[in-house]
Amino acid sequence: MIRVLSVASECAPLVKTGGLADVVGALPAAIAANGVEMRTLLPGYPAVLEALGKAETIAEYDDLFGGSATVLAAKAGGLDLLVIKAAHLYERPGSIYLGPDGKDWPDNPERFAALSKVASDIGTAGADGWVPDVLHGHDWQAGLMMEYLPDDGRPATVLTIHNIAFHGLAGAEKIADLGLDPLRFTPDGYEYWGKVSALKAGLMRADRLTTVSKTYAAELMRPEFGMGLDGVMRARRDVLRGILNGIDDTIWNPEADPLITPYKTLKGKPANTAALRAELGLPAAEGPLCVVVSRLTEQKGLDLLLQALPTLLERGGQLALLGSGEPSLEAAFRAATRDPNVAVHIGYDEALSHRMMAGGDAILVPSRFEPCGLTQLYGLRYGTVPLVALTGGLADTVINASPAALARGVATGVQFAPVTADALRVALDDLCDLHADPARWRQLQKNGMKHPVGWDQSASAYAALYSEVLGR
Ligand code: ADP
Ligand code: GLC
Repeated sequence: MIRVLSVASECAPLVKTGGLADVVGALPAAIAANGVEMRTLLPGYPAVLEALGKAETIAEYDDLFGGSATVLAAKAGGLDLLVIKAAHLYERPGSIYLGPDGKDWPDNPERFAALSKVASDIGTAGADGWVPDVLHGHDWQAGLMMEYLPDDGRPATVLTIHNIAFHGLAGAEKIADLGLDPLRFTPDGYEYWGKVSALKAGLMRADRLTTVSKTYAAELMRPEFGMGLDGVMRARRDVLRGILNGIDDTIWNPEADPLITPYKTLKGKPANTAALRAELGLPAAEGPLCVVVSRLTEQKGLDLLLQALPTLLERGGQLALLGSGEPSLEAAFRAATRDPNVAVHIGYDEALSHRMMAGGDAILVPSRFEPCGLTQLYGLRYGTVPLVALTGGLADTVINASPAALARGVATGVQFAPVTADALRVALDDLCDLHADPARWRQLQKNGMKHPVGWDQSASAYAALYSEVLGR
């Protein structure tokens, strides 16, 4: 039995802004069968505290970065949780990362330093007798734990990079407040261009690094994708692994999804498509109904979709988008609904995301970079053909409908490169051609529905990694 403490800033179903939460929420159950006992350490945001049933206080702090705090042990959402209750850090309304002005909370360095500090304390002293063998942190919010751990008697450490775009930077004047060793404020330590980087702290010192696809692992070592940390990634390439995300089959399963009209075979899909069109006020159409469920940010390449959209509409296709994020993208998509074949829902809506996955003919993911990506995996599972950029996890999970793959009957979707509006136009044209050939289209859908997208393989890969790092 290996004991692992997973350390993260979000975790489905309790608190979620993106795929990180899905992965952190699904991993403990997925990995239990591999002899791994995983508990999850989370900040006590209001949504997390409200979800806790009976909780037991297992540790107390008089001063955790500016106020008192306790650590609670509880079960919620099927998870075995340790939660940091610290009103001064986490109990505030609104987004978990951003203040009402849309900017990072000014005390984000302290908020997630606290998460890392408590993780390090549990990693060395245990939680009420439970001592983890491995600390497994996720993204920059857990990076500083590698600095807080003592040099001697450290547990084994793993850091997973879900997105290297976020570095967790703080001004050098915070070094003392954050309780960091000033002697390690160097290029070999946690210093990044004169600032403290929580992510770099983790990348430099974790025993093993992972990211969420093999292609992104390779991309991270290149300047175009490394976001300034490609040199660090090259230096640490020996400990870097790519382990693909899975999806939670108890939530994303078209045969038993309570949020749709469930279907075992493709015969059941048209009813969902008709219902989605009716719900979104879209007319009947000859071309494919393409869906997007996404954060609206530069990463996701949806500005390219706005440019390429006329190609889809000219071919009789339709677009339904669910997303929120950058105001300029929100406004541009709202404006695109001037065309009756475009429907846009700005906001975050879990139930609608299921209806879109069930009702869509195709799912579009034109990301500039994508460490793994989950919505193309949902698409595969629901017989909704993915059209994706050839990057990161999108490259690793979709089999492009090339002439050779079509001839062999193995294709599952369409990939395009380079990630430009022109290449996307060509890909949308190809998608419409495929859709106009019902036999081929059905083959794509069926292949996708058979493609393994669960956690089995990746859960074993994480378990093997823990054994390796423990020298077992
Ligand atoms: P990222 O983590 O970069 O946002 P992923 O594809 O890994 O990208 O995960 C995004 C997750 O968030 C998916 O579960 C997706 O369904 C969900 N999601 C994104 N935007 C919305 C939205 N507006 N409404 C509902 N779910 C959303
Ligand atoms: C990040 C990435 C996304 C990945 C998710 C979960 O948010 O942007 O590609 O699927 O983390 O690992």
